[in-house]
Amino acid sequence: MGELVSVAEVLGKQQTRGNMTGSTSSEFVYDTEKAPEECLHCQKQLRWRRYVIGNMRVGLYLEPCMCEGAVLERQEKAAEEERRLREEENQRKMRRIEDLFRQSRLGRRFRERTFDNFKVMPHNRKAFETALEYAQSFTQHREKGEGLFITGGAGTGKTHLAAAIANFLLRGLTPVVFADITRLLSSLKATFTEESTNSEQQLIDELCRVELLVIDDLGKEKPSQWVEEKLYTIVNARYEDYKPIIITSNYSLEDIEARLENSGEAIVSRLMEMCKGLKMNGPDYRKGGAKRKT
Ligand SMILES: Nc1ncnc2c1ncn2[C@@H]1O[C@H](COP(=O)(O)OP(=O)(O)OP(=O)(O)O)[C@@H](O)[C@H]1O
Ligand SMILES: [Mg+2]
Ligand SMILES: [Zn+2]
Repeated sequence: MGELVSVAEVLGKQQTRGNMTGSTSSEFVYDTEKAPEECLHCQKQLRWRRYVIGNMRVGLYLEPCMCEGAVLERQEKAAEEERRLREEENQRKMRRIEDLFRQSRLGRRFRERTFDNFKVMPHNRKAFETALEYAQSFTQHREKGEGLFITGGAGTGKTHLAAAIANFLLRGLTPVVFADITRLLSSLKATFTEESTNSEQQLIDELCRVELLVIDDLGKEKPSQWVEEKLYTIVNARYEDYKPIIITSNYSLEDIEARLENSGEAIVSRLMEMCKGLKMNGPDYRKGGAKRKT
């Protein structure tokens, strides 16, 4: 069957041969030097063609046979090629999702917290719907730099909903960083150690640039001047760039402001402008879970 020959190769050969004949159309000429080949389906003699571009003759293709068998074979090949491309595209997408999950710092435990396995009850329905809407309409929220401030008692599902949003977006190829506040601060501190390959600035840049930053458990950190500075840098950079933040906390924004002595006001006033408040009510789900098991 016909082989595809590169333009350069053909042009090279053309110079040494140079005897094209039998122009039948303005688009291609038959090459009479190369012996015709028989169609495997109907045994018709098929001639070789060269394509004419301007006054160059390029490519070398066996003329396609129009018999039923040959047409079917071409259709099957095209379908197979399309399947292969789709499969490749899927695999590329899966690899990209895996990379995004790895970069997201979302721990394994949190990858299982999704909207699907969040039990919707009367006391959390509103929060669930707000979080789901946020994830589904992320593009619009992102455009306006809108985030969420999810507050409420222990075990009410704050982290679950924030992780559900992160999982939803990561699967849709939106880069998210999900960082527990204490882990986030300790990885910033770790950049000062000798073994560290990342600089503090690199990590801060990553936190400032990512499409969505989730800070889990704000208020759990031990306040200090250094902590305040880092928090302010991240919140302010995202504020100025209209980049959304989702925060979960046991505290209200007023409490956070009071905890952070120096930059509390500056941080909280930005968060107030950026984030829609979401109050989680209800009992501690962890305790309910323990009860169910016994
Ligand atoms: N409505 C719910 N449906 C299913 N699982 C839930 C629900 N609410 C909470 N959980 C589960 O209960 C546990 C505690 O929830 P979560 O971590 O979201 O609480 P939290 O509000 O972040 O608490 P904390 O303030 O202690 O951080 C998790 O395992 C979570 O998946
Ligand atoms: Mg939590
Ligand atoms: Zn044929």
